[in-house]
Amino acid sequence: MADPAATRAEPRSARIAFLLDDGVPLFDIAAIDLPPLRSASGSVHLPGSKSISNRVLLLAGLAEGETVLLDLLDSDDTRVMLEALRTLGCGVDRRERECRITGLGGRLRVHEADLHLGNAGTAMRPLMATLALLAATQGGRFDLRGVARMHERPIGDLVDALRRLGCTVVDLGAPGYPPLRVTGEPDGRLAGLEAGQPVRVRGDVSSQFLTALLLALPLVAERRDVIVEVEGELISKPYVDITLNLLGRFGIAVQRDGYARFMLPRGSRYRSPGRLHVEGDASSASYFIALGAIAATGGAPVHIAGVGSDSIQGDIAFVDAARAMGAEVKSGPGWIEVHRGRWPLKAIRLDARPIPDAAMTLAVMALYADGPTRIEGIASWRVKETDRIAAMAAELRKLGADVLAGDDFIEVRPPRQWQAASVRTYDDHRMAMCLALAAFNALATGAAGAGVPTPRVSAGLPTARVSAGLPVRIEDPRCVAKTFPDYFEALFGLAEAAEDDVPVITIDGPTASGKGTLAAAVARALGYHLLDSGLLYRATGLAAAADGISPDDEAAVARLAGTLDLRFASAEEAEPTRVWLRGREITAELRHENAGLLASRVSALPAVRSALHGLQLSFRRAPGLVADGRDMGTVVFPGAALKVFLTANAGQRAERRHKQLISKGIQTTIDSLRADLEARDARDRNRAVAPLKPAEDALLLDNSDLTIEQSVAQVLNWWQARSPFGRSARGSSASTPA
Ligand code: DC
Repeated sequence: MADPAATRAEPRSARIAFLLDDGVPLFDIAAIDLPPLRSASGSVHLPGSKSISNRVLLLAGLAEGETVLLDLLDSDDTRVMLEALRTLGCGVDRRERECRITGLGGRLRVHEADLHLGNAGTAMRPLMATLALLAATQGGRFDLRGVARMHERPIGDLVDALRRLGCTVVDLGAPGYPPLRVTGEPDGRLAGLEAGQPVRVRGDVSSQFLTALLLALPLVAERRDVIVEVEGELISKPYVDITLNLLGRFGIAVQRDGYARFMLPRGSRYRSPGRLHVEGDASSASYFIALGAIAATGGAPVHIAGVGSDSIQGDIAFVDAARAMGAEVKSGPGWIEVHRGRWPLKAIRLDARPIPDAAMTLAVMALYADGPTRIEGIASWRVKETDRIAAMAAELRKLGADVLAGDDFIEVRPPRQWQAASVRTYDDHRMAMCLALAAFNALATGAAGAGVPTPRVSAGLPTARVSAGLPVRIEDPRCVAKTFPDYFEALFGLAEAAEDDVPVITIDGPTASGKGTLAAAVARALGYHLLDSGLLYRATGLAAAADGISPDDEAAVARLAGTLDLRFASAEEAEPTRVWLRGREITAELRHENAGLLASRVSALPAVRSALHGLQLSFRRAPGLVADGRDMGTVVFPGAALKVFLTANAGQRAERRHKQLISKGIQTTIDSLRADLEARDARDRNRAVAPLKPAEDALLLDNSDLTIEQSVAQVLNWWQARSPFGRSARGSSASTPA
């Protein structure tokens, strides 16, 4: 058997859209179905912190000269900020781990712009304050707008503070909400500031208003001390600490009196630190800390790299809350390690004001607790990406939890009976990320089981070994791109499902029927792994050739096939998966005619087929697998939940192959190709080893007259009809299939 460590399929990209050659998305993932998950271990490297990334981007954009930012988050929210900086005339050069920003040095280069800031609060607030001050003193007109939800997120307290200073802020929509315009004349004056008045801002709705002012006010602190006073009790203080820390890195030493009064001393000026490393996102860490607390049950922990005990982010305090619920957590500079400790988790009551974002993760951990968990001090949830209290209550209830929700608290009682739910995510990345943890429901004490018919995604295989578990559907999973574009890949890199729980779709069929294209598109649309089994025979053939072994030497080729040192890497969008054999990339070679000829010879050897069997099975990993090849549904995955046998008439197939070859500059005729194909079909049907024939329970799909889109749509429809969520799960709340 193949050495699984050497040949194991790396988690393939659950990339979100399948792109045709012209870059047009064919199918977006409307939902991702998580099979029941049962354990977790391994290492995850976190993307950069959103809060730090957008703050340092703005600071670098305002400073003089170049700043190199390392490990900056690459997500929707940072892209919005980068785009805004570009529009304002900053230099932006992003490649791999480095992002170089050339700042404005406090002087406007562009005096008019219309900025679209998506749903990024961390871009809207500080840019508004910055541009209001710059327009008021240097002249200009800037419009700031976002998506519809952004126009529902209040910003009036910041607008009021800026107006009192002497800035002109015009409401372009509802007063106190974006869209807004800031304007001013060259050499304008800030009457409020000049009168020596302190800048007053409310602190009890969002700390982002204070942060916005602190980031922007150094622009006008050259000639005088600027004082900021906070009205009301400041919430989310740790986020203000991040702001102060980063201002310090840019040469601005804010003096303060608790969290009520701040002073930017006269002569403050943004000075680039040169290089700055962005630490991993502590809110994103919360999902993996929870993962360890729930599912790191074996010897190996969940190891989180990128953020640790030296973090400047407040959400690192989530570690304490997780410990209080029973997690075993160790940490050091830049790392955290988590094991499951107590089980079930301990129900807690917590004032979550210091960790508003990460506290959402506690609400999901509460599903696995020994009683009701109450999270208080979360009024700010109501004005985030969505009304998070309402959203969380609704979705946790779908899973079977008993939820009490108030203006500023949520209380979650774990399900007595779990339900297979299709979870809405409300265009809120954190809803998607934390609710994915509900897929560990099989581990809950008293979960599912007793009297509840468990909907099985994979039919027909014995499941007595493991307790029942329910799949969870996450709708619109792309929303994680706001802060963690590869979240699901990372999760599936650590989480394990029982093999029988991982759904398999097989696509068998004759040569040139379009199996490969169809399988890749279906896998991308569902976020599943892809097994191109022909590729394994091709690689075996190439390895034999490289070693000077005859493709007919059954024993020698089988030995080789059993120890193939193959590595895969997900490729971008529509590119083929990249493949390395013994450390050498063979992606292109695999596609050559010669590799196909070698493959057809080695694939006729029974010992080779059985040598590759284990390797093929190892591709069956959460969240699911689409396996393409002639015997996938008959031999390798006889219990597959959906088997498709794809055909097309010989004429059509010959035409497609002809087009393919012509595009590669190879001259042939359709007639000769058709004759070849027909001869090969006959040989394949009649050969003794793995003859070409549909599985008894396969659905036949003749795609002679179908476009790729139509074939994909047909397979996805069949799949939906078999899923426990039925056809109409998207957006519905009817989620109990029992
Ligand atoms: O699909 P393909 O052209 O990459 O397949 C290469 C060869 O391997 C072809 O001759 C069919 C054979 N094959 C097989 O016997 N069993 C599979 N599961 C896949 C491919």
